Amino acid sequence: MGNPYNIAVELTQNSHLGQVDFNNLKFGQILSDHMLVADYDDGEWKDIKIVPYANISISPATSALHYGQAIFEGIKAYKFSDGQVSIFRPDKNFERFNRSAARLEMPTLPKEIFIDGLKKLIAIDQAFVPSNAGASLYIRPFMFATEAALGVHPSKSYKFIIITGPVGAYYNKPLRVKVETHFTRAAAGGVGFSKNAGNYALALHPTRLAQEEGFDQLIWTDAKEHKFIEEAGTANLVFMLGDTLITPGSETVLQGVTRHSIMDIAKSWGIKTETRDVSVEELIRGIEDGSVTEAFAAGTAATLTPISEIGFEGKIYKLSDPETRPFSKKVVNYLNDLRYGKIEDAFGWNFLV
Ligand code: COI
Repeated sequence: MGNPYNIAVELTQNSHLGQVDFNNLKFGQILSDHMLVADYDDGEWKDIKIVPYANISISPATSALHYGQAIFEGIKAYKFSDGQVSIFRPDKNFERFNRSAARLEMPTLPKEIFIDGLKKLIAIDQAFVPSNAGASLYIRPFMFATEAALGVHPSKSYKFIIITGPVGAYYNKPLRVKVETHFTRAAAGGVGFSKNAGNYALALHPTRLAQEEGFDQLIWTDAKEHKFIEEAGTANLVFMLGDTLITPGSETVLQGVTRHSIMDIAKSWGIKTETRDVSVEELIRGIEDGSVTEAFAAGTAATLTPISEIGFEGKIYKLSDPETRPFSKKVVNYLNDLRYGKIEDAFGWNFLV
């Protein structure tokens, strides 16, 4: 018997690299030449392979389509000026993926498939990692239930896939966000901390309503009283309140890797950081009295996107000009320099391919 995690490789005969316009990258529209695919059946991961990107065929009874056992991750890889490719903190996404899997009664992935498979895939498609400033390779690992059965039970079989593609910014302007006080993203004891497909589906309708009012995104609040701030759905939220960097710490919030990294960098610079409950009232009061000096969304796709305005109960609260925010500017430059290999990787966050 060979190594059960031996990853077979079939290279494409039909690369579309030449058709990619690296100077005009939108988020999530271009996909690289290859994908990694693994199947879970009879209690084990098998048939792990890197193959040309292609459609997959599934039964209409595939249980993920009916009962929602579907989880994913978002990771980015960057190109240094000498051509070296580096993946940013995939170990954190690996841990979170397996926490999501456990909550949805799905099998966990071994590191040899998630991390080693990812490195092998990126090495094969490294020509798709952009070298222009602000661009990166977005990596989307995901898993879904594949059993063709209509009974409600954990599926017996699953598919794990990693696809990738070069991307530019997810948001290309500061955000106007609305504090959502009617709809709910997640309740205590639910699945808010996990990165499952349903958490994104439920946000679409409330987000569209907010967009019709001229907002870009929502600030979700707690399910019980709508008094405490949670996250933006597409990213975590971080505020500079006085001399302290704060981020909501509820169990219903996704444990974002970018947010965590920003809090760790701030700490290393001697800035006070707090991960705790933040009430809407505290935020609004802080904007009104000038003690909230910075606010931003932090996520893999969003990176760090400044928040320019917050809507709450029909009123608009304007924040400082994003161009004049010292912490946000300094931390985004530091993170970029680290990820593009321009400064020492003091935290050991770059996984070289
Ligand atoms: C990410 O930041 O990677 C996400 O998965 C969020 C999604 C809105 C693109």
